[in-house]
Amino acid sequence: MCGIVGGIGQFPIRDYLINGLKTLDYRGYDSAGVALAEPEGIRVFRMPGRVQALDEATPRDLHVVLGIGHTRWATHGAPTANNAHPHTSMNGEFVLVHNGVIDNFRHLKNKLEAEGYVFHSETDTEVVANLLEFHYNRLKNVKAAMLAMIEELQGSYALAILKKGDLKHIYFAKNRSPLVVGHGEGKNLLASDFLPMLKEGKDFAPILDHQYGYITEDTIKIFNEDGSVANPKFTRPDLKIEDIGLQGYPHYMLKEIEEAPAVVRRLIDNYFDGNQFLFDPKLINKLKAADDIIFIACGTSYHACLIGRRYMEYLGKRSEVYIASEWAYHPFVSAKNPMFVIVSQSGETADLIRCMEIINSRGAVSLTITNTKGSTLERDATYSLLLFAGVEIAVASTKAYVAQVALLSLLTGAMDDSTAVVSHLYDVIKAENAVIANSESLKPTAKYLSGKKDVFFLGRGTDYDVALEASLKLKEITYIHSEGLPGGELKHGPIALIEKDTPVIGFISDPLTDLPIRSNFKEVEARGATVITVVSKSLAKAGDSITVPDVKEYLSPLVKVLVAQYLAYFAALELKVNIDKPRNLAKSVTVE
Ligand code: AGP
Repeated sequence: MCGIVGGIGQFPIRDYLINGLKTLDYRGYDSAGVALAEPEGIRVFRMPGRVQALDEATPRDLHVVLGIGHTRWATHGAPTANNAHPHTSMNGEFVLVHNGVIDNFRHLKNKLEAEGYVFHSETDTEVVANLLEFHYNRLKNVKAAMLAMIEELQGSYALAILKKGDLKHIYFAKNRSPLVVGHGEGKNLLASDFLPMLKEGKDFAPILDHQYGYITEDTIKIFNEDGSVANPKFTRPDLKIEDIGLQGYPHYMLKEIEEAPAVVRRLIDNYFDGNQFLFDPKLINKLKAADDIIFIACGTSYHACLIGRRYMEYLGKRSEVYIASEWAYHPFVSAKNPMFVIVSQSGETADLIRCMEIINSRGAVSLTITNTKGSTLERDATYSLLLFAGVEIAVASTKAYVAQVALLSLLTGAMDDSTAVVSHLYDVIKAENAVIANSESLKPTAKYLSGKKDVFFLGRGTDYDVALEASLKLKEITYIHSEGLPGGELKHGPIALIEKDTPVIGFISDPLTDLPIRSNFKEVEARGATVITVVSKSLAKAGDSITVPDVKEYLSPLVKVLVAQYLAYFAALELKVNIDKPRNLAKSVTVE
């Protein structure tokens, strides 16, 4: 998704902007640009491709007083220089960057063209720039023009705006797309999240929906939609700049896979004090009283919710799981007293923000489980729980999935008033460390997979949930087509795809499904498939391919998923693709 940075004050703004965009590049983008305000005027540099190219094209000897920068993940218009941000209004009055989608941009563009505005790009962002200029020319006051612009905009936006001749202010406005302000010594900053500001800033506050305002060298002014002055809550993240580095790893993805044991350990420490769970009793009571636990998520987080649902069913509770973009447009609920559980690593996924709006409009109770403190989904839920997984930089989510499943198991233990899950999780930590210690042994299998066109993952029960996540991991970083399937479903159609040497990876964790899933493997082997089994030690048989240490079956996803993550990672290494930033993908999907 697009990334925004901005800064004003006595510090090397040009380098801060460029480095900030590099920090944000994990969000996914295809062009980048900066606008640098000097006493002589605003200089704009923008181009398709990586931030490195922008860095080389942007002079270092400018006298920059303030500036904004942007990485663009194309929504309206191809990733060309012309469509890259920043965009300048027709008469040069304003220069701005935008993250989000303006739903009514076509209507606004027609209205502005009728007023004589000429457009040079296909973007909705240029419409915003000209709309602001149009109102400014009418009202001759920036704050009034901002308000008038906001009243006309429909859709999502995080905006950072420079005004011609104004060397004191960077203006901003926000609705549904993330924007954070940061305060530093003799400087003020803004960005899509706090990471790019971590070096220069000390305290940070999220901008809320429909808020707007400006930063100067020594003030941060935020207004609510009604024009009243907002009183933001500044926090200081317990994160140091060095925590973000690779720390000797070749890729963030590998670093984050191998953080799994520490992530599980940290969750236990944060939610269990050795005797009892530390969850808010009101939250636990709400979950226990609900007549339906409705999970909503996307992608990897959705796969974690599939396991969460099984945990609720173990407790005898009715539970459902929905993909956010589906539920948002068919928000059916039959339960009288449902509890919504939103799971999101970033806490900013647009599909989920839309669901949260529907949930809140109905006055329903919600819990957000997220890795991002201060995120939109955390703020807008009735209750929230943090994953404490540390910043996840790689686009492919690994440690966040582990944290989500582990947290859901602890939450279930608390609901069941049983602390057995804690000792079971210590066994998981041991098992994960064993898989990590033995990860080199997975390379030959990964090398074999890297040469394939289609890869199938099979499982039954929680192993099917893992098969779905394993398939997503492989396809999103190697671009190899893959499917996760329930073992028993193959013969109802998909088996037609099996041919000689088609790789089929099968997970076996549950004695109950051991025999039936093995007969599914026989079915595909009989049609020429190459079956690779990933099996719990106590169920292993001669000829099995990969054996992992035993843990309680309900927690086996926390161990099997590491094998899947390694296979995807090592296969991607073979293919020499961009592992941390796969093509077309973004870390936080802030558009619908
Ligand atoms: C996972 O590897 C993907 N990057 C993607 O599916 C991701 O899980 C999904 O976009 C949801 O993101 P969220 O957890 O931040 O809401």
